[in-house]
Amino acid sequence: MDLSKLKADLKKDFNSSSSSIDLQNLKVKYLGKKGKITNLSKKLSTFEKKHRPKVGKKINELKLLFNELNDKTSLKIEKKELEIEISKDQVDVSLPVDTSQRGGLHPITRTIEKISSYFLTKGYLIEDGPEIESEYYNFDALNIPQDHPARDMHDTFYLSTGDLLRTHTSPVQIHALEKYEMPLKILCPGKVYRSDSDPTHTPMFHQIEGLVIDKNVNFGNLKKELVDFLNYFFGKDLKVRFRPSYFPFTEPSAEVDIMDQKGWLEIMGCGMVHPNVLKMSGIDYKKYSGFAFGLGIERMAKLDYSISDMRILFENDLKAISGKK
Ligand code: PHE
Repeated sequence: MDLSKLKADLKKDFNSSSSSIDLQNLKVKYLGKKGKITNLSKKLSTFEKKHRPKVGKKINELKLLFNELNDKTSLKIEKKELEIEISKDQVDVSLPVDTSQRGGLHPITRTIEKISSYFLTKGYLIEDGPEIESEYYNFDALNIPQDHPARDMHDTFYLSTGDLLRTHTSPVQIHALEKYEMPLKILCPGKVYRSDSDPTHTPMFHQIEGLVIDKNVNFGNLKKELVDFLNYFFGKDLKVRFRPSYFPFTEPSAEVDIMDQKGWLEIMGCGMVHPNVLKMSGIDYKKYSGFAFGLGIERMAKLDYSISDMRILFENDLKAISGKK
């Protein structure tokens, strides 16, 4: 029996094994029922008695060697097999990605929020009003009596009840004058309706109304408020022009223009609240005065997002209204 040859074979076998299956086979080959080391142990009794302890010790050493080599080699093999597994498991970055779209706020909503957040810092209260109005709030109380030519200019949608869809946000001024104690500072964003549709007009659009009532409010206060706001909104020092105009509910009245690449652009209406308006809502017009302004949100959004046709804002083309500037 050549123990040293067995030892050398053992080492060689472990060296050349490269998978866990190889290791299993080695276990059978050496320690299985008919394994080489097992056979040796069986043969121990055939040795002369005095040699048995020595041979037994050698066999034990062989078993220990087997275990030691088995541990070392299986560690190495496991590591190698894991590496192969990982390399097969790579992410394929060329696979198509999930293209589902995420929602975003509509440019109109963003513009309302941008304007409202500015006026909130100036102490304005955000006020809401009904979209279905009586003639009184939309016209009479705003100093536009029944036979006034300004009524025709509003292209009003009338309901069969005799009420109407508000043509501007100015009726919210009247609700606020009736509801609150003076002084007053409100901002009212909302939908308005006019029977009109072309590239610059849609039958429904949005306005923001501002109203400030206090003692000693003058046109200078109005001018500063609006110039400051426009500079904030467009993020630069603009050329702003106050052009004399006419609204029945303000006196004096003006339209505000800003200078852009194409020249003067009308951006909003404004003026000092007409004493008749204050009187009709029960406000002491000798004690209080105020200013009001109204601007079209679509026009502001168009300028801010460089949209050419107003109707795009209502056609749900996600690319056009994604809110990217
Ligand atoms: N309501 C006016 C319009 O729709 C705008 C405006 C509001 C003008 C407040 C003056 C004061 O055209």
